[in-house]
Amino acid sequence: MPTTPTNLIDFLVNQANGVKARLDKCKIIPQDSEQSIPIIDFTNWEDIQVQDSIFSAATKWGFFQIVNHGIPINAVDDLKASVHKFFELPVEEKKSLKENSPPDVVRLATSFSPHAESVLEWKDHLHLVYTSEEKIHAYWPPVCKDQALEYMKYAEAFIRKLLKVLLKKLNVKELGREREHALMDTMSLGFVYYPACPAPELVSGVSPHSDITSITVLLQDDIGGLYVRGKDSDGWINVPPVNGALVVNIGDVLQIMSNECYKSIEHRVVANRNKTRISMPIFVNPAPDAIIGPLSKTLKNGDEPLYKQVVYSDYFNHFFSKAHDGKKTIEFAKI
Ligand code: OGA
Ligand code: NI
Repeated sequence: MPTTPTNLIDFLVNQANGVKARLDKCKIIPQDSEQSIPIIDFTNWEDIQVQDSIFSAATKWGFFQIVNHGIPINAVDDLKASVHKFFELPVEEKKSLKENSPPDVVRLATSFSPHAESVLEWKDHLHLVYTSEEKIHAYWPPVCKDQALEYMKYAEAFIRKLLKVLLKKLNVKELGREREHALMDTMSLGFVYYPACPAPELVSGVSPHSDITSITVLLQDDIGGLYVRGKDSDGWINVPPVNGALVVNIGDVLQIMSNECYKSIEHRVVANRNKTRISMPIFVNPAPDAIIGPLSKTLKNGDEPLYKQVVYSDYFNHFFSKAHDGKKTIEFAKI
C-alpha cells in the first residue's frame, strides 16, 4: 500500500494507481498455519529447542508471540485497567500532564509525527520512560504509576533473558556493559489508545512502518487489528490476540547489528469500527550516543557488512522527522 499519508497523493494521483490499487494493496492474507506468526512457550527458555525456535522465528518472521514469559496475569490485568483509567481522565488533567511533564520521563501525544503527516494516525499515546526511581515517582501519572512499575519490573527480567538468547545465537556470549548501552539502555512503556473509528478504511491506526528499536515487546488487548507484512508477498497477516501473550518483534537496530540475520518486519494497525483498542508496547532502545552497526561476530565467513556505523540519535531523529514510511528508515544506515 502507499506507505505514508504524505505520499498518498503521489501514489494515487501522480503515479496513476488510483484508489482501487490502494485497496488491493491493503489485502489481508487468509490465515493458515503457513502464514501465522509462531507462538513460543518461554517456560524452559534455557533449553536448546526453545532457543532454536526463538532464533528461527527471529530470522524467518521477525515477529513472534511468547507465552509463559514470567509476567503474572494480575500484573497484566492491572496494567490494562490502568491504561483505560488514564485515557478516561478529564481532558484538563491530561492537558496539564502534557504541559508539566519533562519529555525525557513522560510524553503524551496524538498520531506519530503530526508535523510531517498529511493525515493523522488514529491514536493517542502516553510514553513512560523507565528511568530513575526518583523521576518515575515525581512524574509518572498516579493513576497508572504503580501498575506500570510493577509490570516493567517483570518485563525487564523477561527482556534480559530474551536478548541473551538472541545474542547467543549471534555468538555474543555476554550482554556486558557496552552491549547493554547499544541494545537496552533506554526502555519506555507506551500506552496506546485507538478509539473506535467511524471510518477505519479512511485512516490508519498506525501506518506501515518497522520499529527503530532493538526489540519491541507488546501486550495487546483482545480486540485485534495488528498486521504484519506477509513473507514474499504484498499482503498482510493478522497477529491474533492470544490471552496473556506478549508480541515480540525485532527492530531495525537488531536487523542492522545482526547484518540482516534477524529481520525487522513492517507492520501496521487497522482501527476498529466499533471498539476501542489498547496496546502496551515496550520499546527497547540503545543509548542516544551508542554507535550501531553490524557486529564483527556476525561478519564471519567473509560476509560484507550491509550497514554502516551510525549514531543511534541520528537514526532516531531521522525516523521522527517524517511520517511512517514502511521499511524506508533503514536505508539511512545502508552502505
Ligand atoms: C508501534 C506499533 C502496534 C500496536 O507502536 O510501533 O506498531 O498494536 N504498535 O499498537
Ligand atoms: Ni511498531
